[in-house]
Amino acid sequence: MPGPPDRAGLIQQKKAWQFWNRSCRPEGDMFSGLNRIIFCVSRRIAGAVLWLVLAAFACSPAYAQDGGQMRPVADMFQPLSRPAEMIHSSSMLVLAITAGIFVVVTTLLVYVVWKFRRKGPEDDLKEPPQIYGSTHIELAWTVVPILITFVLILVTSRTIGEIQNRKMPENAVQIRLVGHQWWWEVHYPKEGIVTANEIHVPLSRRDGAGERPTELILESADVIHSFWVPQLAGKTDLIPNRKNRTWIEPFATGTFFGNCAEYCGTQHANMLLRVIVEEPEAYERWVQKMKAPVPVPQAELAAQGHKAFYANSCVNCHKVDGTNARGVFGPDLTKLMTRQTIGAGVAPLTPETLHAWVRNPQTLKTGCLMPDMKLLDSEVDSITAYLLTLK
Ligand code: CUA
Repeated sequence: MPGPPDRAGLIQQKKAWQFWNRSCRPEGDMFSGLNRIIFCVSRRIAGAVLWLVLAAFACSPAYAQDGGQMRPVADMFQPLSRPAEMIHSSSMLVLAITAGIFVVVTTLLVYVVWKFRRKGPEDDLKEPPQIYGSTHIELAWTVVPILITFVLILVTSRTIGEIQNRKMPENAVQIRLVGHQWWWEVHYPKEGIVTANEIHVPLSRRDGAGERPTELILESADVIHSFWVPQLAGKTDLIPNRKNRTWIEPFATGTFFGNCAEYCGTQHANMLLRVIVEEPEAYERWVQKMKAPVPVPQAELAAQGHKAFYANSCVNCHKVDGTNARGVFGPDLTKLMTRQTIGAGVAPLTPETLHAWVRNPQTLKTGCLMPDMKLLDSEVDSITAYLLTLK
């Protein structure tokens, strides 16, 4: 298993970079004037591309296989869950076939360009032989592509069928995911948990008994969104007035990054999603924590915030279990502080970002549907203090 890029690897990358730069120094001068400038600029571009390619190769496996927590490289060529693996293997076959076609076509093209190039002025005086059509060739380049396309259709439909027809076992986790502009509403109907933007699921083991996939029912409250966590599953749209279905079955723990993959308005790019895959025991602990009631705050500032929260219009859009806050337009805040981020991944969730959000959400996420509530400074402080107790 490749580890993180080591010192030797980094030195090698640096040497490659220096090699590409060297001939542009005055002492290594090979050209002069404009030629030299063109030569140096193209070498620099080539050097930068080489460096980026080396860096990408050195870094991506290190991120993806660290066995630990964050998996920020959402690399679909490193699948870590069953449907993503199935898509990966059929895409490798498709890539191999298309690479074969590319090689054959390019070779023929280069051969023809070379063979029939202009060889001298005498070529300008004659015409190539004028032939019309050839049944054999016409048949070959019609039938062969049809056969190839047919193979590709069969391969991909088999994978699609296998993914769509998977029967979920009894113990499967079920999640209802509702897309909103620009955040994700997350329901666990069996457990009665509601949260937002972060999905916790248990690790599934390949040994049959430990298998535990997660079924996702996808809906939308407004426009079309699309669920995509590249290392876990392919894309599936969330469409208004329709229930779509997909599933994931992760074989590695960690936090997987995903995002909305269908343009849905101003903050589409900040409609981020995290899937936190945990060992089964840790997942059960999370479930219990989410089901535990939230105590009424005792500290003075938080208690004031509690009052201010219910006196303002916060409750029209947000819900806090066991209280009069029953709004459903915005994210459920019952266990707000168990989440890693605020504003569907726009910033890490800290007391500072939360304070900034309560002050004016538009500074962190311009265009989001929560307006600047024009709260007094004292209200911003106390409401933030109250929200910090929701865990
Ligand atoms: Cu939701 Cu793009």
